Amino acid sequence: MADVDAHSLPLDPASADALAAEHLEYALVDNDGAGFDAFLSAVTRGFLDGEPTSEQVEDSRTSLRPRRLTGVFDRGAIHRDVPVGTVDSWVSELTSEPGRTVPMWAISGVTVAPTHRRRGIARAMLTGELRTAAAAGFALAGLTVSEATIYGRWGFGPAVFTSDLSVDTRRVQWSGRRPQGRLDFLHQDELPDRLAALHERTRRLRPGEAAGWPGLWRRMSGLRPGEDDGRKVRAVAYRRADEPDGIMVYSVAEKGDDGSRQELTIRALFAADDDAYAALWRFAIEHDLVGTVVASLQPADSALRWMLTDHRAVRETRTDHHWLRILDVPAALAIRSYAAPLDLALRVEDPLGFAEGTWRVTIDGDGTASAMPSDEAPDVTLDASALASILLGGVRPDALATAGAIHGDAAGVAALTRAFAPAVTPVLSIWY
Ligand SMILES: CC(C)(COP(=O)(O)OP(=O)(O)OC[C@H]1O[C@@H](n2cnc3c(N)ncnc32)[C@H](O)[C@@H]1OP(=O)(O)O)[C@@H](O)C(=O)NCCC(=O)NCCS
Repeated sequence: MADVDAHSLPLDPASADALAAEHLEYALVDNDGAGFDAFLSAVTRGFLDGEPTSEQVEDSRTSLRPRRLTGVFDRGAIHRDVPVGTVDSWVSELTSEPGRTVPMWAISGVTVAPTHRRRGIARAMLTGELRTAAAAGFALAGLTVSEATIYGRWGFGPAVFTSDLSVDTRRVQWSGRRPQGRLDFLHQDELPDRLAALHERTRRLRPGEAAGWPGLWRRMSGLRPGEDDGRKVRAVAYRRADEPDGIMVYSVAEKGDDGSRQELTIRALFAADDDAYAALWRFAIEHDLVGTVVASLQPADSALRWMLTDHRAVRETRTDHHWLRILDVPAALAIRSYAAPLDLALRVEDPLGFAEGTWRVTIDGDGTASAMPSDEAPDVTLDASALASILLGGVRPDALATAGAIHGDAAGVAALTRAFAPAVTPVLSIWY
C-alpha cells in the first residue's frame, strides 16, 4: 500500500454525482499543468493568504508534486477554471508505536470558496477522500486542522494533543541535565537537508508522528519565497559525533521597547534523545537579550518544566493536533501493541460505514490485538471518532466515558483504558 500511486486512483463516483447534482464538476488537477496556478490561488484565498507570486507557484508546484490534487469547479463562474473547492492528499506514514510506522492517507489543503460555502462541497470532497483511501486499502486517514469543529462529523477524532509553551526566562535558572555534547550553528542553506535527515530518525520515536517533505523543511528554514523575516531564521545543532542528534530552528524578535527582553520563537525542535532535548532547550532558555521563549507543537508530557527552577515560569496551552480516521477496524487496531490483555465486544457506530459494526476485540498476553465481526450484545459502545481518538493512547477511554462519548459497563471501560495506555505519549511535531 505504501507503493500506491495516489495520482492514479480514480475519482470517487458518489462525490462526483453529489457535486454534479449541484451543477459542480469534480476533477483531478495536474500538478504540472496550467490548472495548477489556479488551484494554488484558490488554496491561498481559502486560507486567507495573499495571491501567490510566480516564484511561490513554482516552489509550491515542486512541493506538492507527490500529491493528488482534486478540485471542484463551477463552470458558470466568471473564472471557471479557478476551483471553488480544493483538497490534496498523498500516501504518508504514521508512527503507530516507537519504531513502527504504518501507511496513512494524508489530507490537506481543504478549502471552499467563500462564495460557495455551506452547499456540501467540503462534505463531498472529504467523503470522497475517505472512500478513495478505503478502496485503496488504507486503514487510516489523517489530517491537521484549522478548526476543531469541522472533521468530527466525518468520523475523524483528535488522537494527538500537543502543547504550546511560553517560558518567562527571567524567572528561571536551568536545573536540568547538562549534556556533554557540543552545540554548533548551522547555515540556513544546509538546514532543509539536515532537518530532513534528523526528522527521519526522530519521527520514528513516538506514536503520532508523520513523515515530512522537502517543502516543509524549506518553510521551517525560512527559505520559501515570500517568507517574511526569512533571513532572521537561525539554527543550532547538538551532537556528540558527526551527525546532529538535535536541531533547533528559531528566530528572535523585539517585543516592546526593552531590547534585553526579546522573544525567541522556536520554529522546530527535533531531538533524537534526552540529551539533545535538554541541551537545545537550555540554549534557548539561557539566550542573551531574551525574556520569553515560545514553542508550539511540543509533547504534551514535555519534561521542560522539570529542568527549570520555577515551574510557573512555563505557561502551557494544550491543543488537539493530529486527527485520525479509522477506515478498517481490524487493520487499525493491529497497528500497535497494547499494554494489557482485553476481551470484549466493541460496538462502533459509523454513519459513513467504514468502521460500523460490533467487533470482538481480543488482545493477547503479548499485547497483540485482533478484531472479528460479531453479533453479540456490546460491552462498550463508541463512535468512529472516539475510536480514532483512543487508538494511539493519546486520549484515555475513561475520560471519554466520563464525557459520554463511550458507553458501557465500568469494567469494560477500565479494561479498555488499561489496554490502550501508550508506551510513550503521542506527539506530532509538524503541521501537514
Ligand atoms: C471549512 C470549509 C472547508 C467548509 O466547507 P463547506 O463546503 O462550507 O462545508 P459543507 O457545506 O460541506 O459543510 C459540511 C458540514 O460542516 C459544517 N461546517 C462547515 N464549515 C464549518 C466550520 N468552519 N465550523 C463548523 N462546522 C462547519 C456545515 O455546517 C455542515 O454541517 P452538517 O454536517 O451539520 O450539515 C470552508 O468553510 C473553508 O474553506 N474554510 C476556510 C479554510 C479552512 O479552514 N479549511 C479547513 C482546513 S483544515
